[in-house]
Amino acid sequence: MNCDLIAPHYWWMERLGMGHALERRRRWFLPETGDARRALVLGDGDGRFLRELLRRNAMVRADNVDLSSRMLGLARRKAGDARVQYQQADALTVEFPPDEYDLIATHFFFDCFDQRELEILIGRVAGGARLRAKWIVSEFRTPNVAARLLVSALYLFFGITTGLKTRKLVDHRPILQSQGFRLIKASHSRGELVVSELWER
Ligand SMILES: C[S@@+](CC[C@H](N)C(=O)[O-])C[C@H]1O[C@@H](n2cnc3c(N)ncnc32)[C@H](O)[C@@H]1O
Repeated sequence: MNCDLIAPHYWWMERLGMGHALERRRRWFLPETGDARRALVLGDGDGRFLRELLRRNAMVRADNVDLSSRMLGLARRKAGDARVQYQQADALTVEFPPDEYDLIATHFFFDCFDQRELEILIGRVAGGARLRAKWIVSEFRTPNVAARLLVSALYLFFGITTGLKTRKLVDHRPILQSQGFRLIKASHSRGELVVSELWER
C-alpha cells in the first residue's frame, strides 16, 4: 500500500464522503488518554489524531510509524518534532521496544490487513505494550448490506489509488483478546458503520 498519492487529499475526501464521522471516532476516547506517557501511533495518516493527542496531553511522547513518507510529512507539520519520533516503516516488520507503551492507537488501520497479517501485527505490538496499556481502535463494521457495499467501495477505491491488496474487513476483536486485551468501552455511529473501542491489557 502506498498512500503518497492520496495523502494531501485524504482529509477533504474523507470529509466529502463521511462528513465528521471518522474524526469523531478518532477523538472519542481521547479523554481516556490523559495518563499516557508513551504512545505508539500506527498508520495515523496525515496526523490529525496525533496532533490532538499531544494537544490534550502535555506529558506524552509518541512514536508514529507509517509506510507513507508523504503522510508522515503532513503529520510532522501538524504535530511537530518536539515529542514525536516519526518512522517510515512497515508496522508488520518494524521492531517495537519491549514493554514500552502505555497507549497504542490504531484508527482505520486494521482494515489494511488480512487475517494472518493482523494476527502478526497485533502480536508484535502487544510485545511492546506495558501491563494495563490502553489500545484505542477506530474501525469500520459491516452490520448490514448498505455498510457492506460502502466498505467494498472503499476497498475498491484504496485498491486503485494505493495498491491495497486487502479486500475484506477482519474481525480484530478475538485477536486482541488472544493477546490479553479486554474491551472496556465501545461507541459507534452511523448505524454501527464506524466504531471506536477502548481496550486495556
Ligand atoms: C486508511 S489510512 C488511515 C489513516 C488514519 N489512521 C485515519 O484514521 O484515517 C492507513 C494508513 O496506514 C498506513 N499504512 C498502511 N499499511 C501500513 C503498514 N504496513 N505499516 C505502516 N503503515 C501502514 C498508510 O500509509 C496510511 O497512512
